[in-house]
Amino acid sequence: MEKMPYQPQLEPTPPFAALPTSSTVTNDWRTGLPVLVGSLVTLREMRASDAPALFAALSHEQVARFISPPPATVDGFGRFINWTMRQRQAGEYVCFAVVPHGADRAIGIFQVRSLQPAFGTAEWGFALALECWGTGMFMDGARLVVDFAFEVLGVHRLEARAALKNGRGNGALQKLGAAQEAVLRRSFACGGDYLDQALWTILEEDWRRARSVCASHLIH
Ligand SMILES: CC(C)(COP(=O)(O)OP(=O)(O)OC[C@H]1O[C@@H](n2cnc3c(N)ncnc32)[C@H](O)[C@@H]1OP(=O)(O)O)[C@@H](O)C(=O)NCCC(=O)NCCS
Repeated sequence: MEKMPYQPQLEPTPPFAALPTSSTVTNDWRTGLPVLVGSLVTLREMRASDAPALFAALSHEQVARFISPPPATVDGFGRFINWTMRQRQAGEYVCFAVVPHGADRAIGIFQVRSLQPAFGTAEWGFALALECWGTGMFMDGARLVVDFAFEVLGVHRLEARAALKNGRGNGALQKLGAAQEAVLRRSFACGGDYLDQALWTILEEDWRRARSVCASHLIH
């Protein structure tokens, strides 16, 4: 598998509260990603024109602190965008751009890559522009991506890794409902050191159960 240039990561815990609304979902994702619409953000395929905004957002020192280094230039980010499309066509990986409602600029990404043939087990990652932290956009987009992973990609186990020092990354995964299974000792090369990472997982059956409980609460 071609190496993933970098991988922001994600987070979980219970309040599966509001059900996201997704639209235009297609199973033909290898030829193009669907547009997924939440209550705060839309997720869509990245475009070459996203490179300057995403480069600026993900290069910020605080955003990049616990993720693999993003491309060092806008041109490099453009090449990363092209790479994501080749990987999607090959059926190995998908990457969504996050666009807040009412805006036209992408402010972050969610990516999912297959760890086994046909996405049986997959790993996801994410990063949002600093100004969008704590706004609810993460949870809104994360629910759309996790639904997409289980319902469309056919994932049954979704993994995420977060440096233990990454309080927001771990907090977000916990909030989403992921289970922390392990600590991967000194598994993440970062700033000349190796950091411990938490391994967070969401199983398809757990996600569906939580969603149906949530839906029944909304109905009753
Ligand atoms: C990870 C990221 C997408 C999460 O988005 P976010 O908007 O910051 O997430 P949220 O605010 O919805 O949730 C973070 C939770 O962690 C909590 N948190 C913050 N600092 C924390 C800490 N030190 N320890 C534990 N929890 C912490 C927050 O309070 C929040 O929970 P709350 O809503 O119940 O208060 C965003 O922070 C980001 O882009 N970070 C940089 C890239 C990155 O690290 N990616 C993930 C790698 S695992």
